[in-house]
Amino acid sequence: MNILILGSGGREHALAWAVKQNPKCDRLIVAPGNAGIAQIADCATLDIENGGAVANFVEENAIDFVIIGPEAPLAKGVADRLRDAGILVFGPSEAAAELEASKNFTKEICVAANAPTAGYGHFTDAEAAKAYIRKEGAPIVVKADGLAAGKGVIVAMQEAEALAAVDDMFSGSFGGAGAEVVIEEFMDGEEASLFVLVDGEDILSIGTAQDHKRVGEGDTGPNTGGMGAYSPAPVLSAEIEQKALDEIVKPTMAEMANRGTPYQGVLYVGLMIKDGQPRLVEYNVRFGDPECQVLMMRLGAQAFDLMHAAAEGRLSDAQVNWAQDHAITIVMAANGYPGAYEKGSEIKALASLPEDSKNYVFHAGTKEDAGNILAVGGRVLNVTARGDTLQEARDRAYAMVESIDWPGGFYRRDIGWRAL
Ligand code: AMP
Ligand code: GLY
Repeated sequence: MNILILGSGGREHALAWAVKQNPKCDRLIVAPGNAGIAQIADCATLDIENGGAVANFVEENAIDFVIIGPEAPLAKGVADRLRDAGILVFGPSEAAAELEASKNFTKEICVAANAPTAGYGHFTDAEAAKAYIRKEGAPIVVKADGLAAGKGVIVAMQEAEALAAVDDMFSGSFGGAGAEVVIEEFMDGEEASLFVLVDGEDILSIGTAQDHKRVGEGDTGPNTGGMGAYSPAPVLSAEIEQKALDEIVKPTMAEMANRGTPYQGVLYVGLMIKDGQPRLVEYNVRFGDPECQVLMMRLGAQAFDLMHAAAEGRLSDAQVNWAQDHAITIVMAANGYPGAYEKGSEIKALASLPEDSKNYVFHAGTKEDAGNILAVGGRVLNVTARGDTLQEARDRAYAMVESIDWPGGFYRRDIGWRAL
């Protein structure tokens, strides 16, 4: 098969790495890709948020299957445009992508499906939002309704902070995303993510993970897209996972199907777990980044068969062959991230690192220039390893990190601390 993956991050490098190992893959194109992806696949320039342009590219290149990595093309209906043209695609419709694109939509689905989540209010007016905050008190969580690149959530420990966040959102600091806000009950507990494939009807769990969102060691400092992740997440025991599937995922997916907008693709189920009870924090309509990197390293080539089965509506026959292993990824980011960061610094000594089924450096914001690898993004490398224990995987991942010569970058030294 000829396969096209849309995206350019570490997540898409990991997807490409897994797909490429499957004997069913004849040709792999990633658009737009990055310097690491270019070492294992063809990269193409393409406006991936333009469904018409992607459909034309698919026809011209005889692509049999499209895998959509990030949320932006999904929220813009690229999957619908491809399906209308009869193209096989992995990823939800624009209507189903509302599960990530609108926090209020997800809350309504949870209410309709009676799925455990934080209590909330939805507001289109700052004064009403502030009155709700004063009534509920802190801690409380203020969320811009729409997509805000992971920056639209303020977990306010003080009432004043929550009130200021409301003013901020209604004054337009999040653009259209903040014209509506959801204000939620603060949930205490431990966070973990569950990843499931959905084919419109059936659901298949493909693994659990935990990431480290804060930039600093000890989970301090500003939020980022994720500074590292590991799989499995020990807090998500088989029993709690089953509870999350039965009480949250199955009823909400049935509600989506009942509304005539069945979900197809991967569903990222963000959970808060307390006293053995999972509650939904959020849905994302794509793989997590960097969670995808650890999931792909554990699944390997079968990841392609599973995504293909989801796209073709064959999940009821599919199963995951699990190894009892652990994977971890350490994010190396450009100095300054998540604030303003340097661009263009050179990364050396990558070529000497092992590249096999247990050790791999996935690239995110990199570019090749005259044979040199340059950092051009905030999160730049995802140094990933797999082992029989998390400790073994972690030791190998950090040994790789330490041998990379990149003064322009930094990383956290404590990824996985909670699980160890
Ligand atoms: P979200 O984009 O909705 O996942 O929110 C980003 C992060 O904010 C989550 O990963 C949590 O760490 C935190 N968060 C969101 N909602 C809540 C909540 N209701 N209670 C506590 N923490 C939350
Ligand atoms: N690592 C968090 C996310 O992908 O949303």
